Amino acid sequence: MQNFRQYTPTEIVFGKDTQKEAGHLAKKWGASRVLIIYGGGSVVRSGLLDTVKEALDEEGMEHAELGGVQPNPRLSLAREGVQQAIDFQADLILAVGGGSVIDTAKAIAIGAANPGKDIWDVFWMGQEPVTRALPTGVVLTIAAAGSETSESAVLTNTDTGKKTGLSTEFNRPRFAIMNPELAATLPKYQVACGVVDIMMHTLERYFTPVSEGNQMTDEIAEGLLRTVIENGKKAWENPTDYEAMSEVMWCGSLSHNGITGLGRPKDFLNHKLGHELGAMFDEAHGATLSAVWGSWARYVYRLDVARFARYGRKVWGIEEEQEEEAALQAIAATENYFRSIGMPVCLGQMEMGVQPDEVLKDLAWRATKGDTVWLGSFMKMNAQNMYEIYKAANHG
Ligand code: NZQ
Ligand code: ZN
Repeated sequence: MQNFRQYTPTEIVFGKDTQKEAGHLAKKWGASRVLIIYGGGSVVRSGLLDTVKEALDEEGMEHAELGGVQPNPRLSLAREGVQQAIDFQADLILAVGGGSVIDTAKAIAIGAANPGKDIWDVFWMGQEPVTRALPTGVVLTIAAAGSETSESAVLTNTDTGKKTGLSTEFNRPRFAIMNPELAATLPKYQVACGVVDIMMHTLERYFTPVSEGNQMTDEIAEGLLRTVIENGKKAWENPTDYEAMSEVMWCGSLSHNGITGLGRPKDFLNHKLGHELGAMFDEAHGATLSAVWGSWARYVYRLDVARFARYGRKVWGIEEEQEEEAALQAIAATENYFRSIGMPVCLGQMEMGVQPDEVLKDLAWRATKGDTVWLGSFMKMNAQNMYEIYKAANHG
C-alpha cells in the first residue's frame, strides 16, 4: 500500500426532506449571506429552489441567486458569479443542482476569496495554488459526478475550447444535503450518465500500475461497483425507486471522495478522453466516458490481464478460468451493461456521430497539450495513443 492522505470534511445530511435543513446548515458553517447557484431550471420547476430559500429565510439569512448553469459548465458564467459574490459580500456559495452547478459554485468560491485574480488564468492554469476559498454547501439533485464531496471542479472555457478540472482541498464542500427523492424527476438519460460516471470514478482508480497490496481499497471499489451496477439499473428503470436511488446517490459520493483509490495512484485517462469530447461537442459527461471506455480497455488490458480478470470475477461474477478470456468477458460485460441503460459504447452512438480522422487527431492533440504531456498512469499515453483509442471508438 502506498502512502496516502485522505481528507473528507464534508458533512453529509442524507435522506428525505433534508433540503429543509439548508438554512440551519449554512448557519452552522458560519454563513449569513448566501449566494445560491442553480442550473437551467429543473430546481425552479420542482419547487426546490423556493424550499431552499424558505429554509434560509427561517434562519434570517440574506440571499441572492444566480441561475443558468449549463452542463459542461462555462467559465464565463463562473466569472459572472465571482463578481456577483463579491458585490453581494457572500460568505457561502450554495449549489442547488448537480455536478455542473456544484463546480460553478466551487469556482465562484475560489474567485470571490481572491478578488482581482482571474480564476482561469491564475488557478485553473496553475499559475498559483489555491490558498483560500469561501465555504460551499450543496443541495444535490442528481447522483453522478460526486462533486458534492470531491476535491475537484471542472469548467469549460469556450474561448479556448478547453474543459479542465482544478483539484484542491479547498474545493471540498462544507456540507452536502443528499435527498434521493430530489433525483426522481431526472430524465432516464441523466440517470444513466450518472451511473456510468460513478462506475468510471471507481474504475479510474482500480486500473492503475499498482494492482497488489490494497485489499481494503479493492474490496470497497468492487463492492461499490456491484452496488451501483445493480441499483443503477433499477434507478434507471424507475427514478422514483427511492431505495435504488439512495444506493446510487451514496455510491456517487463514495466513488469520488478518494476512498476507492487509497494506496495507489489514479489513472483518469478516460476522463481526459471524455473531457475533450465534452468541450468540442458539448456531450453529457457520462456518455463521453462510456463511449470510449471499451476502446481504452481493449487497448490496455494486456498490461495487466490478471487485474481485468479479477474485475470480471469480483464485479461481474464471471466464472471463466482462463485469464485472458475472463478479462475480455469483463470488458464485454461492462459494455453490455452500458448498452442496457441506453449509454453509447462508441462515438457514433452520440449526437456528435462518427468523425473524420483529422478531428480525432485534433482531440488527441488538445488533450495532450500539443503532444507535450503524457496522460494516465495505468498506461501513460501520448497523442498517438489517444488518437488510436478515439479511432477504435469511431464507429456507429
Ligand atoms: O440544469 P438543470 O435544469 O438543473 O438540469 C440538469 C442538467 O440538464 C439536469 N438535472 C439535474 N438534476 C435534475 C435534473 N433534471 C431533472 N431533475 C433533477 N433532479 O441534469 C442535467 C445534467 O446536470 P449536470 O449537473 O451537468 O450533471 P452531473 O452531475 O452529471 O455533472 C456533470 C458535470 O460535472 C463534471 C463533469 O465533467 C460535467 O461537467 N464532473 C465533475 C467532477 C467533480 N467536480 O468532482 C468529477 C466528474 O468526473 C466530472 O468531470
Ligand atoms: Zn466523471
